[in-house]
Amino acid sequence: MSGVMLRQVVKAYGPIVVIPELDLSIAEGEFVVIVGPSGCGKSTTLRMIAGLETVSGGSIFIADKDVTYAPPKARDIAMVFQSYALYPHMNVAGNMSFALRLAGTPKAEIEERVRRAADMLELTPYLDRKPKDLSGGQRQRVAMGRSIVRDAYCFLFDEPLSNLDAKLRATMRTELALLHKRLERTMVYVTHDQIEAMTMADRIVIMDKGIIQQVGTPREVYTAPENLFVAGFIGSPSMNLLQGEIADQAGDLRVRGAGFDLPIPQRMKTRATGARSRDVVVGLRPEHFSASDSGDGDLAPIRLEVDVAEYIGSSQFLAAMVGEEHVTASVDVGPDAAPLASGDYFFDADRLYLFDRASGQAL
Ligand SMILES: Nc1ncnc2c1ncn2[C@@H]1O[C@H](COP(=O)(O)OP(=O)(O)O)[C@@H](O)[C@H]1O
Ligand SMILES: [Mg+2]
Repeated sequence: MSGVMLRQVVKAYGPIVVIPELDLSIAEGEFVVIVGPSGCGKSTTLRMIAGLETVSGGSIFIADKDVTYAPPKARDIAMVFQSYALYPHMNVAGNMSFALRLAGTPKAEIEERVRRAADMLELTPYLDRKPKDLSGGQRQRVAMGRSIVRDAYCFLFDEPLSNLDAKLRATMRTELALLHKRLERTMVYVTHDQIEAMTMADRIVIMDKGIIQQVGTPREVYTAPENLFVAGFIGSPSMNLLQGEIADQAGDLRVRGAGFDLPIPQRMKTRATGARSRDVVVGLRPEHFSASDSGDGDLAPIRLEVDVAEYIGSSQFLAAMVGEEHVTASVDVGPDAAPLASGDYFFDADRLYLFDRASGQAL
């Protein structure tokens, strides 16, 4: 398989093992986002792919070529960093063409490549400007332009949007997705922001403590998290995780805890019956709560002691208690509803998750 492949890659700094052993296959042309909390080893992984960091074990293949010990320039990659140092004395065109000029690329070809990259990034009107006369977003696009003109086999991004404000980040997410469509190149993108990952990725790689927790499409990691870490990390606001116990009441399988008693959905019955332990963690996504029993799902009553109801427009965010535990609920009630109060709510029991409490693995 071409693309990018990591085989049993290990990284240690002296006695400290940062990546115990990592296997990952990225298909050619795929947009893969590696996401995880700060310090989990995302940059290290990306820098090993780029050749900016040596590996302590294992091998790395790019386009079927073993590049484990190859220098960065022999890997046919282009990298965009979080902090991008543009040359302040050069205009946009100069910044974008710098590497090509250094490589002795013919002038006509340089002009053509800069023109195309500028066009793609909507930088054409600014080619003569100096970085100080550009907005933050424009500067970030120039930094990307510098990579794009080189037309590498694989593009590597290390949190390139972290320094931008929220609105610009959203715009750039869309632009990056478009860019990927136009360039049809393999892209590996690193971020700690799960929304960025969900919106842009063909596939998401969720990492914690140097270990891959799950690989899947945005839909897969949202609908079928394989463990508690992924469950809590993917989704906004986060999934509520409550201590519970499986109870079998003459074939009626339920999960119970302080303040709730929910039916276990049909699709989980076999796994719940065969579970090693009755002690579980129940996962309830905020968006699967509702205020009335009007839906067509398998709605089960649950009492919420509401502390705060936030008006969001068509829905309200509730900070509430179930028993002794804090939960968040996002309830669709339309824009004219009064602030929601404590009372009986419903949860779509079809969509609850169960995790083994000891191992954290999904049942
Ligand atoms: N040069 C280094 N020497 C020692 N430890 C390092 C070095 N670079 C990174 N680390 C450690 O490796 C871990 C992963 O770092 P990094 O890959 O930068 O995480 P992320 O990009 O996910 O925030 C961190 O615990 C960090 O402290
Ligand atoms: Mg990093």
